[in-house]
Amino acid sequence: MGLDGKVAIVTGAAQGIGHAVAWELALAGAAVTVADIESEMGQALAAAVRADGHRALFLETDLAEPAQIERMVTTTVAEFGRLDILVNNAAIVGRTGTVAEETVERWDEGLAVNVRAVALGMKLAVPEMRRVGGGAIVNISSVHGFLAAERHVVYDTCKHAVLGLTRQSALDLGSENIRVNAICPGFIVSNRREAAAFGTDEQAKLNEAIYPLRRVGRPHDIAAAVRYLVSDDAAFVTGVALPVDGGMSVQLVDSVTHKIQAVMRKDEPAGPPNTPPLREYP
Ligand SMILES: NC(=O)c1ccc[n+]([C@@H]2O[C@H](COP(=O)([O-])OP(=O)(O)OC[C@H]3O[C@@H](n4cnc5c(N)ncnc54)[C@H](O)[C@@H]3O)[C@@H](O)[C@H]2O)c1
Repeated sequence: MGLDGKVAIVTGAAQGIGHAVAWELALAGAAVTVADIESEMGQALAAAVRADGHRALFLETDLAEPAQIERMVTTTVAEFGRLDILVNNAAIVGRTGTVAEETVERWDEGLAVNVRAVALGMKLAVPEMRRVGGGAIVNISSVHGFLAAERHVVYDTCKHAVLGLTRQSALDLGSENIRVNAICPGFIVSNRREAAAFGTDEQAKLNEAIYPLRRVGRPHDIAAAVRYLVSDDAAFVTGVALPVDGGMSVQLVDSVTHKIQAVMRKDEPAGPPNTPPLREYP
């Protein structure tokens, strides 16, 4: 299936996007370490992946703790014998405040999980990837990595930093056949985020109208992009920041405003009738 014999770590895989990424890599043949601070959901995912006939391991990991990142890498290699793929997906997500309001504690917490853990994961993965002749790292940034949202100063700064880290490391690691890429998701609705996205018909319609592809994203959209970037099909791809956002980030603000007005006038058509079914994971 393309990743047979490969070994992957996916951080923040207990739920949401990471959950889909872990399934997608396992279904493509990789052994997968599910690393997350959420033990119950992480254990359940690893058990379900194993029950489906694949290799998977859950490691309770707090990415704010460097020693636990080290344990995540060493235990994966001890269990599965090698490391080929690292997907840095976990993050502390959300709107907190302006630069004038943010606290030292929130900066430390955000930077530790959203940036430092990404760098430390890469630092520890690289020697293992060297040992097997190369590897692929995918860092999950966001459209917040190149656009800004009100009162998101910690999150937006971290997601910009992830793109810098990705591009810089692609340069340093390219000669060792270690590819480093980033994905910039638009709004991705997982079960957990369902209510927020579709709480009312009006909200759902607005979401559909704003996206050029007339729908918000699902975890599978990101998982499929990760699968491509870690596969040999992407052997000549490194240092990219790939938006997977239904076209959201190419629009002028004017274009969005017109669509919102159309929805309010009730003359915006609903989404396309034949939206392809998206893969759902157990
Ligand atoms: N969902 C979206 O709309 C969206 C959009 C753009 C980017 N992203 C990015 O995609 C990634 C996944 O987002 P999601 O929506 O699936 O989020 P989520 O909150 O559903 O899942 C994130 C996971 O990370 C884990 N995590 C958080 N802190 C941790 C820590 N200290 N140690 C270990 N694990 C920790 C959480 O337990 C959780 O399981 C994040 O990097 C996020 O910034 C998401």
